[in-house]
Amino acid sequence: MWGGRFAEGPSAIMREINASIPFDKALWREDIRASKAHVAMLGAQGIVSAEDAETITKGLHEIAAEYERDGVPEDWDLEDIHMTVEARLTDLVGPVAGRLHTARSRNDQVATDFKLWVRAANARAIAALGALRSALVERADEHCGTIMPGFTHLQTAQPVTLGHHLMAYYEMLTRDTARFAAAQERLDECPLGSAALAGTGFPIDRGATASALEFSAPTRNSLDAVSDRDFALDYLMAASQCSIHLSRLAEELILWASQPFGFASLPDQLSTGSSIMPQKRNPDAAELVRGHAGRIVGACTSLMITMKGLPLAYSKDMQNDKPPVFEAASLFDLSLAAMTGMIAETTFKPDRMRAAAQAGHATATDLADWLVREADIPFREAHHITGEAVKLADTKACSLEELSLEDLKGIDDRIDEPVFKALSIEASVASRASYGGTAPDQVRQRVAEARERLAAENSPED
Ligand code: ARG
Repeated sequence: MWGGRFAEGPSAIMREINASIPFDKALWREDIRASKAHVAMLGAQGIVSAEDAETITKGLHEIAAEYERDGVPEDWDLEDIHMTVEARLTDLVGPVAGRLHTARSRNDQVATDFKLWVRAANARAIAALGALRSALVERADEHCGTIMPGFTHLQTAQPVTLGHHLMAYYEMLTRDTARFAAAQERLDECPLGSAALAGTGFPIDRGATASALEFSAPTRNSLDAVSDRDFALDYLMAASQCSIHLSRLAEELILWASQPFGFASLPDQLSTGSSIMPQKRNPDAAELVRGHAGRIVGACTSLMITMKGLPLAYSKDMQNDKPPVFEAASLFDLSLAAMTGMIAETTFKPDRMRAAAQAGHATATDLADWLVREADIPFREAHHITGEAVKLADTKACSLEELSLEDLKGIDDRIDEPVFKALSIEASVASRASYGGTAPDQVRQRVAEARERLAAENSPED
């Protein structure tokens, strides 16, 4: 299609290195959609005759049906999806097909196609995140009062509620959702009509193609429009950050499902067995979600480094934009689906969680706080006294709660009977009722708010 000025055709190596059809055929729907919008505009503007526009549109329609049925043929000589479609159109409708490429270039074409693809990927991410966030909220609601150890440094710190822990992930994923939504807003300008790099001399109507493709407006600078891949990076960055959150959640499920923890049992449908150890039940899905995060972040890094230092406008390096986005998107979609299944179906083990919360002197801070509140002891001194109590409990191999009043008075005389009320893990979590704290009532309020928010997100706005 560009052979006019060449005496010889490309070598086999040139054809191979140049071909993007093996991966960009994934853009066929977007390519045909954008071509239909373009030719309709060319017809409306009288740049091509109404008759030719109709012939081309019918041809494009037929190609879509063929691809839907048989897949996209992969001919390296045709280089990419844009030329593949155009060549097929020529087969079908003859030389009139050549009018389709009036007032456009593959440079604005690929930017438009890819933007349409990424827009759909953002929308899928937002919807899948909605499902995962709902699953977290439902499980949190079930476990507002379930006590587990809260950790810092992975050491038992203070008792928390499982509901509170799950809602922490709801918060992360809510921020991720906002990142995809912001990406969606930023990409809302249509590059089509920027042509090769400088715009075109034909009297095109860019507003018409923009609205036919459901963009708010055309892009304002043709050089930027054909060389901008920020929309793909926005997607990859949002997916990277989200996949980091998913991998943290996956890691916790892996840990909780391990025998020494025993806090959870992952659903059969998302676990695998071992071919040699019959007792095993491996958390493979969670491990792969954790692993996929590495590949998604890698894809983001790959495109950032591809774009770095490219002069305006289009350079062929940019053809390498698609594989990382396609790969990341399929890993990310799968990760969200797997995680939603795991959250919805995991069996939590409240007894084990409770026992672990009891075991780690998790209410030591409550003892110190009691000394401050009830005996007016400065916190630093209270901290020291509590440390003595923990030491004694360790020596006696019992919990703080199981120490006798005599034991405690032996450490500090100001300690009294009512202290025992503060030492239970129930009292401990109930007392942390500051806004955003772990107290069951607080968690219940956050769950109710989250439910309202999810319902609002799902109801169509007018
Ligand atoms: N296959 C190319 C890509 O994916 C399409 C644009 C080609 N433009 C060009 N001037 N060679 O980026």
